[in-house]
Amino acid sequence: MGKKGKKEMETSKETFDPLPVETKAPATVVLLLNSQEEDVLVKACEAIYTFAEKGNENKVSLFEVGALEPLCKIISHSNNLVRRNAIMALGSMSTNGEVKNALKKLDVIPSLIEKLSNEEDVVVHEFSTLCLASLSVDYVSMAQIFESNGLPPVIQLLSSSDPDVQKNSLEIIFNLVQDYKSRQAVHEFGGMVPLLELLKSDFPVIQQLVLKVLQNLTMDLETRNTFRQEQGFEKLLEILSNQDFSDLHSDVLLIVANCLCNSETIHSLAEDGGLAKVMDFILLPSVPEIHSNAIKCISRSAQSCELLHEHGVEKVLVELLSVENVDVNISTCHAVAAMSLHQASKDTFRDLGGVAKLVESMSSESLHLKEAASAALSNLTHDKNNSMTVFEVGGHTLLIKQLSCSCPKTVANSASTLCNMAEQVKIRRGIWSHGVMEALVEPLKSTDSQILLNSLQCLALLACDSEARVEFQSAGGLPPLVDLLRSHHKDVLARACLAVVGIAIDEFPAVEMYKLGALELLEEINLSVNRRNKFSKLATTALLKSNLSVKYSLTGHLASTDIITHGFYDAGKETWPS
Ligand SMILES: *[C@@H]1O[C@H](CO)[C@@H](O)[C@H](O)[C@H]1NC(C)=O
Ligand SMILES: *[C@@H]1O[C@H](CO)[C@@H](O)[C@H](O)[C@H]1NC(C)=O
Ligand SMILES: *[C@@H]1O[C@H](CO)[C@@H](O)[C@H](O)[C@H]1NC(C)=O
Ligand SMILES: *[C@@H]1O[C@H](CO)[C@@H](O)[C@H](O)[C@H]1NC(C)=O
Ligand SMILES: *[C@@H]1O[C@H](CO)[C@@H](O)[C@H](O)[C@H]1NC(C)=O
Ligand SMILES: *[C@@H]1O[C@H](CO)[C@@H](O)[C@H](O)[C@H]1NC(C)=O
Repeated sequence: MGKKGKKEMETSKETFDPLPVETKAPATVVLLLNSQEEDVLVKACEAIYTFAEKGNENKVSLFEVGALEPLCKIISHSNNLVRRNAIMALGSMSTNGEVKNALKKLDVIPSLIEKLSNEEDVVVHEFSTLCLASLSVDYVSMAQIFESNGLPPVIQLLSSSDPDVQKNSLEIIFNLVQDYKSRQAVHEFGGMVPLLELLKSDFPVIQQLVLKVLQNLTMDLETRNTFRQEQGFEKLLEILSNQDFSDLHSDVLLIVANCLCNSETIHSLAEDGGLAKVMDFILLPSVPEIHSNAIKCISRSAQSCELLHEHGVEKVLVELLSVENVDVNISTCHAVAAMSLHQASKDTFRDLGGVAKLVESMSSESLHLKEAASAALSNLTHDKNNSMTVFEVGGHTLLIKQLSCSCPKTVANSASTLCNMAEQVKIRRGIWSHGVMEALVEPLKSTDSQILLNSLQCLALLACDSEARVEFQSAGGLPPLVDLLRSHHKDVLARACLAVVGIAIDEFPAVEMYKLGALELLEEINLSVNRRNKFSKLATTALLKSNLSVKYSLTGHLASTDIITHGFYDAGKETWPS
């Protein structure tokens, strides 16, 4: 480990003559583990430890000749020295995967936890925590450690004077806190204080482990509160302002991001100047990983307050959009999307050229970047001026292309952006002349409900223009649209009905929908209490209007607005089609 040489082991050399086990086969030494004599046990265990330390193959061969089961018993021997050498041997062997898997089945966890008590010496602590650290990677063992009340003594050992014990204990805790029950427990058993204390460790590996544990712990609200009460944030800021710790900055920022999840924390941070420090830090030029994690802080906090706007964060984000690193670009897009909940930020992004940069990203090779940029655009275009800007820089052509993208979220976001834009008549005309009606046909065949919802809404809006309706029909859009009348998704169905209403304005597409069985489907919908909706009746009326012959025979009358054309004939009274 890091900055320090291996701890002096108090071996038994001076008390006992070494057994010449080095020359013997492991099997012979393992046989000695059955001895009743304590001297023999001490030497046998020591020999096994030395042999195991030489490499993985040795660990496996010791396991194969049956060293594991006797060692598991001897670790609870009444003689201190026997116990100590046995746990060293077992601990060393447990770092091998194959040995660990066998050890899992031997129910050794309770006796390992016993070894963590204050009465045992530091070497016993080191190797029993090593053993538990190996085992705790496994989900079942992890649960067993928790249920055998392993956490309190492990938390105690965080304050051990020995860095190896500290490191092993941190590893156990890191493995355990993947489960929320343990996250709660670490904080209930007073783990926060010793954890924060270890941030000052001289060993980078220990500091890194603490940060990883804190990343998991601060996902819970209650634990975050304790973290705050114990001045956790101040300690993180100290690390951020220390260039000697730049290797830790990226991990620190992930914890900061977790802490910025609740508005309460943000406000108290803003008051004591902590937030300004974080923002200053984000502004510093740095490596991409740090940037990405810093941007996560912005995304997290953007939801809860406008303080970031006051700190001029938009300018930073727009600059970061031009960084030649795709991960930075992606996290910046997320932050922009989150920030754009505030009207003031929406305007600022546009004024600083951010909207145009996002449009540029839509022609990236990276699917993830396109997804993130389209999400940001879909949020930003809830504003008319932003919609106009997207249109002016030609964003609509790129968005229309994305309707056939392989990433479902990008398709849904693009449809939603186009929909926002299409609310303005001037833009609607512009969009329509770029083949959007044809491009909308594929998404209507999707099984993704968000894609369906957004493209149906887009369709309903664009169908206001008669040329658009004609184009939709010639592009083969009617069969998938009618098919959606079979949907059991309430909102999809309602929007499909609405789109039918819009398109049935013209007789030609209305008759085609009728021939595709739309009327029967609408009748089915009308008969189902769950599927009926306010647009299904409108859709029926709209369709009937297109074929007056049918309407007349079904309802027995025509309205004064129904114009009889040459195709009309009296087919006689009929019942509803079934
Ligand atoms: C805990 O944090 C690590 C990063 O340190 C992360 O990879 C892991 O997913 C987190 N665990 C949970 C349960 O969120
Ligand atoms: C990030 O986005 C900017 C502007 O949109 C672009 O110029 C740059 O090439 C992108 N970087 C990558 C790696 O895609
Ligand atoms: C976009 O805005 C909506 C609210 O209008 C919000 O719920 C959502 O989180 C925002 N998207 C992102 C990616 O932040
Ligand atoms: C938005 O656009 C309108 C019309 O072009 C303009 O009058 C208005 O000032 C703009 N709003 C902002 C906040 O820029
Ligand atoms: C809908 O169903 C009801 C019976 O549930 C019926 O009275 C009504 O005429 C139907 N209307 C349409 C437009 O299908
Ligand atoms: C109207 O419906 C009738 C009965 O289904 C059908 O024979 C006729 O062709 C339809 N009219 C038009 C114009 O499609």
